[in-house]
Amino acid sequence: MKQVHIFDTTLRDGEQSPGVRLNMEQKLEIGHALVDLGVNIVEAGFPISSPGDFESVHTLATELKGVTICGLTRAITKDIECAAEALKPAERPRIHTGLGVSENHLQHKLKMTEDQALEKGVAAVKLARQFVDDVEYFMEDSGRAKREYLYRVVEAVINAGATVINVPDTTGYTTPDEYHDLFHDLINNVPNSDKAIFSCHCHNDLGMATANTLGGVMGGARQVEVTVNGIGERAGNTSLEEVVMALHIRNDKFNLETSIQTQQLLSVSKLVSRHTGMLVQRNKAVVGANAYAHSSGIHQDGVLKERSTYEIIDPLLVGAEKSEIILTARSGRHGLKHRLSELGFSFPAERFEEVYTYFLEVADTKSEVGDEDLYELVKR
Ligand code: KIV
Ligand code: ZN
Repeated sequence: MKQVHIFDTTLRDGEQSPGVRLNMEQKLEIGHALVDLGVNIVEAGFPISSPGDFESVHTLATELKGVTICGLTRAITKDIECAAEALKPAERPRIHTGLGVSENHLQHKLKMTEDQALEKGVAAVKLARQFVDDVEYFMEDSGRAKREYLYRVVEAVINAGATVINVPDTTGYTTPDEYHDLFHDLINNVPNSDKAIFSCHCHNDLGMATANTLGGVMGGARQVEVTVNGIGERAGNTSLEEVVMALHIRNDKFNLETSIQTQQLLSVSKLVSRHTGMLVQRNKAVVGANAYAHSSGIHQDGVLKERSTYEIIDPLLVGAEKSEIILTARSGRHGLKHRLSELGFSFPAERFEEVYTYFLEVADTKSEVGDEDLYELVKR
């Protein structure tokens, strides 16, 4: 089975989330957790952006073993030299450089023609290759760029020595079928495309980051750029746990594997949430507090008979303890009987009906009926 490389950018694009600031100790703890989780590449930061970020990339490059450490740069000499210096201690250093490719970015941000930008990108890759063997080239705003120009850029930067081609949907604009076709077309129309790995990098402005990334993988991408809990600029980046579990659970469709130890997904999610202060929404896919909780009577009845009736992910697979039965006014007799028996209570049918009536009275007054409530109502 073929592998999809997991490129984690929690410490770079994730840390760009408004309001997030990680100190060195927190970055190191997250970095070690990412290595244990099994990611292939850690994007440690943007070394030229501040002395603090330089220090972080240098420290992570020194401390983290068995993983590629990547530093972001603009296509500017001083950025590349700075990243090369920060990455010096890394076992496997990668410089991630590039610039915009859409008409919008060329005209409004870069104020360059296509040819000028292309020349600058090629020069940046050549310079980066003087320091490291592994150079990733990002084509910012690929999602809104012209195909013909992308073909020219990809061919030129691969010829200049780029080993990975990042095709970011920087603004979260594309749809999954468009992003799929983008990879398919690049891989099939650029003559030297077999000399590089193609990478997905999606933002979640329209809530399509995970779907787009999976679309890109179906189109031939073999690296995905993701963050834990999907944190990142604006509406965030593609969530690591969602892509990994989609590839795992729907292996019948993708036939691709990752090196991720899925049992650690929940603990890494909690660690990142704690250090960044970014709470995980309760109904978040894979790692949300409600992801394996069942509250309605119909679902509880099904899950108690056979978990797979309503759960496609075994909670143990992501490191959650087990499915949870939450007692609410929508719960039924089966759910109540189950929880009472876990607490050591068993009642004859008539008495149980009485307890069930009391339960509904309490349930109508609050969002969740807890064990303390059950202890009280069985005394009535
Ligand atoms: O979203 C983006 O285009 C980026 C690049 C800098 C890789 O984060
Ligand atoms: Zn990004």
